[in-house]
Order: sequence, then C-alpha cells, then structure tokens
Amino acid sequence: MGVMPSLRYLVRELSGKDLISTLEWSDEEIDIALKLAAEFKQLANYYGVEAIPKVLERKVFYMLFFAPSTRTRAAFESGMYFLGGHAAYIDATTTRMAFGKQEKAGEAVKDVAAMYDLYGHGLGIRILDKAIDYLYGVGNAYIREMARAAKIPVINMADDMFHPTQGLADIFSFIERFGDPQGKKYVIMWAYSPEIRGWCSPQEDMILFPRFGVDVVIARPPGFDLDPKLVEKAKELAKEHGGSLEVTDNLQEALRGAHAVFPRNWATPTLVQVGYSKFKDEELKIYEKYKNWKVTRELMDLMDKRGVLMHVLPIFRGYEADEDVIDDPKRSIIYEQAENGLWTKMAVLALTMYGVK
Ligand code: CP
Repeated sequence: MGVMPSLRYLVRELSGKDLISTLEWSDEEIDIALKLAAEFKQLANYYGVEAIPKVLERKVFYMLFFAPSTRTRAAFESGMYFLGGHAAYIDATTTRMAFGKQEKAGEAVKDVAAMYDLYGHGLGIRILDKAIDYLYGVGNAYIREMARAAKIPVINMADDMFHPTQGLADIFSFIERFGDPQGKKYVIMWAYSPEIRGWCSPQEDMILFPRFGVDVVIARPPGFDLDPKLVEKAKELAKEHGGSLEVTDNLQEALRGAHAVFPRNWATPTLVQVGYSKFKDEELKIYEKYKNWKVTRELMDLMDKRGVLMHVLPIFRGYEADEDVIDDPKRSIIYEQAENGLWTKMAVLALTMYGVK
C-alpha cells in the first residue's frame, strides 16, 4: 500500500479479515487502523482527497442494508470512491432473500454470499432494530452466518450487539481531542428519547475505550443494564489496559470531572428479549419516569472544563441533549466524530480489501 510502507506486514495480515466486532481485532490491528485513518485525514486536509492513493481501484464493496442509515452508507460510499473503488448500495428487501419479508422461502445465505464473492471484494451488512424486532443476538448471528459462508471480508455496519467502525471513529475522536486517553473519563449515559434504540453503539464504546486505558462509566437508570457478558468482558479489558469500567445510576457523580459524555437511548433487557412488537408500549411507559436523563448545560458544568459532548448520531435534539449544548462549538464534537467516521471506515476498507483478488 502506498500510504504507510512501514506497515506493509500488518496490512497483509489484515487483508481478507472480517470486522464483526473489535473484540476480534488485536490492539495492534486497531492501532494500525487508527494510524491509517489519521494518515488519510492528513492527506485530505493538506492536499485534498485527490492525494489519497487509489488502493482499491476496480474493487467493489457491497453494502447490504436491512435497516436505515444517514452516515454509515454515505461514509462508506464516499470512502470507496476516494480509494478508487465502488460501493454498491443494496436494500436487502429488494433481493431474493426471505429474511425480513413475508415470504417463507428465499435464497439461502450461502448462495447469496457466493454471489458477492463472485462479483465483489468486500461485503458490509447492517441488520438491527426493527429489521429483527430488536431481538438481541439475531442480527449478529446473521452477519456471522454470512461471514462463515463468504470468502471476502465481511464488515459489520451495525448490528444488535456491535458497531465496530463507529467505535473506531469514537475513540479516534476522543484521542484527537484529548491526546493520551489513559486515565481520561468517558461517560456512556442512557438518555430519554421517544424513539427506542438498540445496544450496538453504547456496547461498542464500552468494550473498546477500556482498551485505551480510558475510565469508562455507564450511567443508566435501574433496569437498563447492557449485555452482562460484555460488561464483564469490558471490565477484564479495562484491567489488562489500565482503565476501568463502572456502572452506576448516579448521573451527577458519573459526570463529575468527565472528559466526554455520550447520551444515548437504549432499550431495556426485557424489550430486547421479548421484542419491539410485543413490548414497545410498555417500554415507552417505563421511559416516562426518566425524562430528566438528558445532557443539559448544568450537567456539562459538572464535567472537566474541557469536557465535551460526543454522539454517534442521530442525536434526538431536546431529548438526549439540549440544543444549546449540541450546538456549542467549544463543548460538542459530534460533527468531528461524524467526519472521523469517514477516515476510520476508509482505513478498515483499505486494510481488509487491499489484498483481495
Ligand atoms: N452513526 C451511525 O451509524 O449513523 P447512521 O445510522 O445514520 O448510519
């Protein structure tokens, strides 16, 4: 790869590798992805995107979407173009697959995987929320089934458990803002919204940030626990990397001295077990008790004086955070984070697809 000759060895190692969860990438591999993302960003900032080497020329990345997207689709599409290749958007409901439709019979996953192997060089899949009735594990299992069948790298573009390329953008943005992440405090906070959200983004950051020595706090009302196995895993990773993971329902204490807060709605464990179709109304009644779980100016004042609002977006304005905080250029880095999503996705594309024939 023309970009970082010293990294050729690792680039070869990553070629063809899936990214379904960052848990399956080593610290070194994640570091390579972040370094390459920084390199792309620098090149684009100094010389324009024309300066980015076209390392994926004539390569095709298929993007299979079972759920909507504003950023992920756009960033992957631009990213493939900047790298000299092509991204093909596929609305899963327009394919021959039965998943998510009324039809009982449809094309087998292994046959679909074989087609993308024949025509392309990488496959991204997004499957979560209403596409799977919010049932925990269903989307991730589907992506893993496709990855077992496909020879080309499979990239998780968000499922019900993980959002790895988002996590990379989040930690990239945190480091970009604060430098050495060791000992910095990141609060992942449940926030009220009338729109029910899945667990992928809070869980992704919960397992990724501790690997950088960050002190992560999950602040949520009682009854909003995330996957206990992943909480344990995050604690283990924190111990190994000199960070920490704490779960609390004391929001004020959580925010005291924090460097960043990510306020985000997520479903209760009951909803993700029973399903959105059966539990939605009950779920929204539970939320009514916690309408004050929102980032306000007063809460921001409890944070470190450099403390910022972070969010994967979409953010629900006036619900998850007040407008004046969201639009404060000194205390909100949500658009920088979205931009970094482009560079980190490009790094993942380049690293995993470069050597695919
Ligand atoms: N952050 C993110 O995944 O945004 P989209 O859902 O718009 O792709």
